[in-house]
Amino acid sequence: ESTLGAAAAQSGRYFGVAIAANRLSDSTYATIAAREFNSVTAENEMKIDATQPQRGQFNFTAADRVYNWAVQNGKEVRGHTLAWHSQQPGWMQNLSGSALRQAMIDHINGVMSHYKGKIAQWDVVNEAFADGSSGARRDSNLQRTGNDWIEVAFRTARAADPSAKLCYNDYNVENWTWAKTQAMYRMVKDFKQRGVPIDCVGFQSHFNSGSPYNSNFRTTLQEFAALGVDVAITELDIQGASPSTYAAVVNDCLAVSRCLGVTVWGVRDSDSWRSEHTPLLFYNNGSKKPAYTAVLDAL
Ligand code: XIL
Repeated sequence: ESTLGAAAAQSGRYFGVAIAANRLSDSTYATIAAREFNSVTAENEMKIDATQPQRGQFNFTAADRVYNWAVQNGKEVRGHTLAWHSQQPGWMQNLSGSALRQAMIDHINGVMSHYKGKIAQWDVVNEAFADGSSGARRDSNLQRTGNDWIEVAFRTARAADPSAKLCYNDYNVENWTWAKTQAMYRMVKDFKQRGVPIDCVGFQSHFNSGSPYNSNFRTTLQEFAALGVDVAITELDIQGASPSTYAAVVNDCLAVSRCLGVTVWGVRDSDSWRSEHTPLLFYNNGSKKPAYTAVLDAL
């Protein structure tokens, strides 16, 4: 195959990319994105601050720009993200307790109803666990509404759009030996045992010198899949873009039948949120990096 998306499709998977609405007018960017990928995640446009800037006033202008571009170019869409401690609008940052809990529920309903039946996977909850050795939940205004906020978010999401796969998404959960990974595993196991509606786990996979790729990532993917959820690599970027590490990540996904696909977090290095890491598959001039070839060969 000659593109990442077509190569991934040979094994029933997708190869996706994070898209920024304001870059779609850059023809180099749009040409690569349209050609190479068959799944799209909005890098920021479907987040809480973007979609509900004032309480009760939803704005899907930028989100729809990404969504419509994706559909017009034949790509499926991952929704990102509905409940998160970060990129909250000011009004939400100022809420607490039952008012914040209700605002979370209203937000999930508002965004999911706008896209009802149109989203392959939703990242319902993002980054709810703490880093480090505690295995605890991250402190946040949402966490302070009560430990059940995550399951309430998933139950709300299932009712709002039964056709979307509902994912929990986090970072520093790729290494099987890490406490954060084990804490997430216990939550997913508990949700499956109690019938909380969760369909998938997203592993962001922002690999860098502080949290490097480890070959036990495949074990992690296998262990979660064995709980009865799909897994996905949702925001892949690798500091330095080592071709062999990129190939290893792709091979880890391909080794797990419940791995739905891989999404890279941007097109060219200059589009990356960590551009100083030169972590992506395309040079700033749009040409393919060695990591691109390694990924294509692995798929
Ligand atoms: C990042 C975007 O790439 C940046 O443009 C933005 O300034 C901050 O958020 N985990 C996530 C993503 O789930 O939403 C984040 O995206 C990167 C880390």
